[in-house]
Amino acid sequence: MMIQQHNLTDQPTSETDGIALERDRRVLELYDQLMEIEQRLIPTGLHVLGQASEPREKADMLRMVASFDRPEVGARALPDLVAEGLGLGACVLSNGSGLQSEQELLDHERIDGVVASAIQEFLSSGLSNAVEFLETKANVKAEDSQPVLALLEKISRQLQTNNELDSLLRALRGEYIEPGPGADIVQNPSILPTGRNTHAINPYAIPSAVAFARAESVANNLLERYQSEHSSYPRAMALVLWGLDNIKTQGEGVAQALWLLGVRPVRDALNRVTAVEAMPLNELRRPRIDVVMTVSGIFRDLFSPTVQLLDKAVRLVAQLDEPVELNYVRKHVVDELQNEDCEFDEAVLRVFSNAPGNYGTNVNFMVMDSQWERDDTLGDLFVTRKCFAYGRDSRGGSLEGREARMAMDRALRRVQATYQNIDTFEIGITDVDHYFEYLGGISKAIEKRACSRPAIYLSDTLSRDAKIRSLEETVRLETRAKTLNPKWYEGMLKHGFRGVAEIESHVSNTFGWSATAGAVDDWVYTEVAKTFVLDEPMLERLRTLNPHSAHSLVGRLLEAHGRGYWDADEDALDKLRDIRGSLEDQLEGVA
Ligand code: BEZ
Ligand code: MG
Repeated sequence: MMIQQHNLTDQPTSETDGIALERDRRVLELYDQLMEIEQRLIPTGLHVLGQASEPREKADMLRMVASFDRPEVGARALPDLVAEGLGLGACVLSNGSGLQSEQELLDHERIDGVVASAIQEFLSSGLSNAVEFLETKANVKAEDSQPVLALLEKISRQLQTNNELDSLLRALRGEYIEPGPGADIVQNPSILPTGRNTHAINPYAIPSAVAFARAESVANNLLERYQSEHSSYPRAMALVLWGLDNIKTQGEGVAQALWLLGVRPVRDALNRVTAVEAMPLNELRRPRIDVVMTVSGIFRDLFSPTVQLLDKAVRLVAQLDEPVELNYVRKHVVDELQNEDCEFDEAVLRVFSNAPGNYGTNVNFMVMDSQWERDDTLGDLFVTRKCFAYGRDSRGGSLEGREARMAMDRALRRVQATYQNIDTFEIGITDVDHYFEYLGGISKAIEKRACSRPAIYLSDTLSRDAKIRSLEETVRLETRAKTLNPKWYEGMLKHGFRGVAEIESHVSNTFGWSATAGAVDDWVYTEVAKTFVLDEPMLERLRTLNPHSAHSLVGRLLEAHGRGYWDADEDALDKLRDIRGSLEDQLEGVA
C-alpha cells in the first residue's frame, strides 16, 4: 500500500495535496474496515457437545481475552503492554476514531504482530517462554506479562477439558450439576469450564458498578453518532432490552437506558439497586433523552425489580423542574397532557413488553412464512404483541402488564432512533431471527407512527472502543465476516445437513432486515447468489447435503427480488428459477 507520509489533520496547501489527502483518508478508512472484518472473532462451525476447541480457535479466543484489562486478576490488556513497551502509547489502540495516519497503521500492525506471536509462543512453548518473548521483542516487563499469561494458561487448560457430556448424563439421571455463571468467554472467562448449570444473577444487583461505568461511553458514542448524522440529539429513542444479554453484562443495556435518561442507580442499605437519582444537568451537559423500552418476555420475568426501576426512572425525569429543551421526557409528557386527552400516568408509560405469560413478537414467524403483504403489517404485529405496560402508577399500584396500545403508539410517534446493545461475538444480528423481530420490528412500527424511518444503531460493547454502527454497517460487516466468508461457511458445511440449514438461516435472517428495515444492499443478495447458487460445485454440495435448505435459500433470494429488496439481473433470476425447479424435482423424487 502506497500512502504519503503525513498526518490527516494536516491542512492541504494545494489542490493536488487536497486530492492526495482525500485519497489517503479513504485508503485508511478502507484498511480500517478490512482490519475490522479480519479481526472479527467468528464461530467456525457449530459447537459439538463435549468437544474441546481446535488450536486455531483457541489461539483466536486467547487473543481476544488478552486484549482487555482484567482488574479482577491484576492483568492488563496485552496490546496495551506491548504498545507501551514499544514506546507507542495505548492511544494508538483505542482512540475510537479510526486510523489517522500511515504511522498509526504501521504501529497497529506491529503491535498486533507481537501479540499474535506471543500467543503462539505461549501455546507452543509455555508461559515462561512467552514472558521471555515479550521481554525481548517488546520490552514488556515479566511482572506485567505474568498476570495476563497466567490467566491465559488457566483458560487454555479449561478449554481443553470440559464436563459437558458427563454433566448431561448426570442431569438426565437427576443428579446435582455444579452451577456456573452465564456469559461470553471473552466477557467473563469465569464461565469456564463449560458443562455447568448456568445461573442468572440477582436482579437487585444490576446494573453493576462496572456495567454502569462502561455504559457511559456507549451512550455518549451513540448520541455523538446520531448528532454527527442529524446535527441534533435524538429527542426520543427506542431501546430493546433482553434478559440473557443483561445477565451476561450485569445490566449494560439497562445502564445505557439510565445514562440516556441522565439518572444513576441508587443502592439501599442492603446494597440493592432499588431507586435512581437524577444527575444534575450541568454534570450531564446535554438534554435528557426520552427512552421507550421494549423488554423481552424473558427480561420481564427475570428482572421484575429492574422493570420497576426503569419505570421509576422515567417518572422521576418527567417530574424534574427543568427546561423542556433539556429534558425531552418532560417535554413530551407536558405536550401530551396539553394536547391529548390523557393523564400523567398514561403519558409517562415507557416500559413495554408482552402480555403476562406471553413471549416474542411473532414478526420473525410472519417474515419466515412470507405471510405479509403490506409493510405496515410487521410493525403493527410488533405493537400488538408488545403494547403491555409495566411499572407502577402514581398511587403505587402495579400496572401488571395491562394493555396500553394507544400509549405505546403515542410514545413511538416521537422516536427518531432505535438501538440494541450487542454484547457477544458468538451471536450476531444474522445468526438468529430474534434481532430482526425485535429491533427490526420496532423500527418498522416507528416508521409508520412517526411517518419517518428511524436511524437504527447497534453497539459492539465487546470491542475496546465500544463502537456504534448503523444497522446497514452491521449487516455489511456480518455478511462479509460470516455469510460470505469461506472460513465461516466451510466450517458450517463440515456439519453436513445442519450446516446447510445454518447458511440458509443466515440468508433468511438477512432477508428479515430487508423486510423490517430496508437495510440490506443489493450486492449482499448478488454475492449470496453467486457464492451458494450460481457456483455449480457449491450448489452440488448444498443440494447433496440438504436439498430442503438449498431449495429454501433459492426461494428466499427470489422472494427478495419479488418484494423489491434486490435489484437482480434477469440472467441471474432465470438461472435461479431453473435451479429452484430442479430442486423441486429433486425433492419430489426424494419424497
Ligand atoms: C432474552 O434473553 O430476553 C431473549 C432471548 C432470545 C430471544 C429474545 C429474547
Ligand atoms: Mg434495491
